Amino acid sequence: MKIVALVVGATGIAGRGISQELLACGAEVHGLSRKADGLVSGVRHVGADLLDPKTLARSLGGLKPTHVYITTWSRQATEAENVEVNSRMVRNLLAALSAARSVQHVALVTGLKHYLGPFEAYVKAGTPPPTPLREEQPRLPLPNFYYAQEDEVYAAARRDGFTWSVHRPHTIIGKAIGNAMNMGTTLAAYASICKEVGRPFAFPGSAAQWNGLSDMTDTRILGKQLVWASTNDLAKNEAYNIVNGDIFRWSWMWPRLAAWFGVEWKGFAADGAALEKQMANDAPVWKRMAEKFGLVEPDLWRVASPWHSDLDLGRPIEVMTDMALSRKRGFLAYQGTEESFHDLLAALRTDRVIP
Ligand SMILES: NC(=O)c1ccc[n+]([C@@H]2O[C@H](COP(=O)([O-])OP(=O)(O)OC[C@H]3O[C@@H](n4cnc5c(N)ncnc54)[C@H](OP(=O)(O)O)[C@@H]3O)[C@@H](O)[C@H]2O)c1
Repeated sequence: MKIVALVVGATGIAGRGISQELLACGAEVHGLSRKADGLVSGVRHVGADLLDPKTLARSLGGLKPTHVYITTWSRQATEAENVEVNSRMVRNLLAALSAARSVQHVALVTGLKHYLGPFEAYVKAGTPPPTPLREEQPRLPLPNFYYAQEDEVYAAARRDGFTWSVHRPHTIIGKAIGNAMNMGTTLAAYASICKEVGRPFAFPGSAAQWNGLSDMTDTRILGKQLVWASTNDLAKNEAYNIVNGDIFRWSWMWPRLAAWFGVEWKGFAADGAALEKQMANDAPVWKRMAEKFGLVEPDLWRVASPWHSDLDLGRPIEVMTDMALSRKRGFLAYQGTEESFHDLLAALRTDRVIP
């Protein structure tokens, strides 16, 4: 079957990974975003704003995608606004594609906030969810833009007769510049600055995260699960967790990351500072480093998103993810997380994102 794929949010961290997997499968890949910067080579750009239905319809023109991969979000000040804006993006997209009736499957990427709550109520004390997080756990009684996006997909699937899948990654690791949340590039920039100025690479998070078990989601395994779910009848109309398949403790990973950079490290400390605080005055340092080492992005805040790494590393519980449902149905891909970091760090160095 020839896949004509539309990756929505194609320049983001998830969208880039999925684009790469689709190209590797021989799909014709169209990538929607407002700007083309960061699009994977081989992807045909569809420049459109999902919040502007008129230009969206015009930009989609005669495109008749068979498979749609929704990997987009737009961060708002409150979860109520997240719900309104992010569900509207999905609604506008699926309405614009409806008339052509070409879509066979829609895959939606959400995440573990499905279980942990939206950022404004993220794993707050009093309601910690049981871990490992399991696919059968019900929605929380809180507003959540993931639920609103899912509901848009379910409604359009009933209207237009396509199949769907939902994919819930943990923290995503992969290459993207200028996107909202990227722990891999954040830690890479932070470690590079520590090395440059002679500061220790100090873990910014909680004791539970330092000592507890964790997992992560490489964009490559996320892309593989999306391709699997969208092309296998057995997999359709289901919501899946997706993580690498190994588990680790940050007390194990942190010194290994420090060793990659050749920088001194410090583990969890009760009085340790969040990355946002540690990096607050680092933008001029990064700009000087960009000149000195010929780096491609002199704006630190397009490489690093410390607010997000602080939220994930600061959670008061360990967070592990169970992948029973897709494994039982035959999705058996595995990715080691230390290799995910090493592959990303090597690519960032080769591409002159870090020295
Ligand atoms: N990053 C993580 O660690 C992580 C972890 C778990 C779950 N997730 C979830 O994964 C999903 C995808 O997130 P992501 O991190 O991959 O996002 P991202 O890297 O921030 O990328 C967002 C993409 O959407 C596009 N976009 C944003 N607003 C748009 C608009 N109005 N019209 C058209 N395109 C627009 C952006 O391009 P332009 O700005 O050029 O338009 C970009 O291509 C989200 O639901 C997120 O919560 C992320």
